[in-house]
Amino acid sequence: MESLVDLESRVKSRPLPQHIGIIMDGNGRWAESRKLPRLEGHREGSTSVQEVTRSARRLGLKALTLYAFSAQNWSRPADEVAGLMDLLREYLLKERTEILENDIKLNAIGELEKLPRYVREPLDALREESASNRSMVLTLALSYGGREELVAMARRIAEEVRAGNLEPQAVSEALVDATLWTAGLPPVDLVVRTSGERRLSNFLLWQSAYAELYFTETLWPDFRAQQLCEAVGAFQQRERRFGLTQAQVTPIRLAGT
Ligand code: IPE
Ligand code: IPE
Ligand code: MG
Repeated sequence: MESLVDLESRVKSRPLPQHIGIIMDGNGRWAESRKLPRLEGHREGSTSVQEVTRSARRLGLKALTLYAFSAQNWSRPADEVAGLMDLLREYLLKERTEILENDIKLNAIGELEKLPRYVREPLDALREESASNRSMVLTLALSYGGREELVAMARRIAEEVRAGNLEPQAVSEALVDATLWTAGLPPVDLVVRTSGERRLSNFLLWQSAYAELYFTETLWPDFRAQQLCEAVGAFQQRERRFGLTQAQVTPIRLAGT
């Protein structure tokens, strides 16, 4: 079998997506199939987060966005929510050195004010400490919802118009992009969802308009560096047309090449 080093270098030799978003799903089922509490699935899933982040950095991706907790996930049983918040804090404390040493900028999107203080504090601290890092942006989507993000964007723009700072005619795609929580991140090229579900569940609704979608049966705790490379490999087989015809996007081959 091809080693991880070989697999990563093979994938690296072809055009890479700049920005991958991952819907990390299936932790609960991973645990339940082993007769373990759901939280053990989330714990194993946080190891996947570490391994996938390291691999993304080795590949040279510019941005990785991980859907860790949705706006809707607050409605889960209180003990599961509390367990997830504890794990999040643990993750932020444990990963600090790795993130800083690898020149990764930690970013977060979502209704962050809803997070408990014991999560927000290490999150804000690490965001600040890593703010000038440039090799890769790791964005955690926390208490995130795409619809919630669009509503926040619409409100901000409406307020600017009301204040007289903006003409309705000046509202453009670029302005919307710049007003979303993801402002400044490269376009999302690939959205991955684990665990066999085929839906976006409120993830990056505007941003995924032209993303390639990759669904895998693998549960998130089993999704590691190798599975990331397989997803990137599948992306590299796709032809992105952005509304054009195949002839328009296929580069003209010169005779003899
Ligand atoms: C994803 O795993 C993690 C979060 C949504 C926080 P799930 O907890 O949704 O796992 P399943 O879908 O129940 O297996
Ligand atoms: C989506 O997973 C949210 C995250 C992965 C954080 P869910 O498990 O919450 O999504 P649904 O409920 O199956 O749509
Ligand atoms: Mg789920």
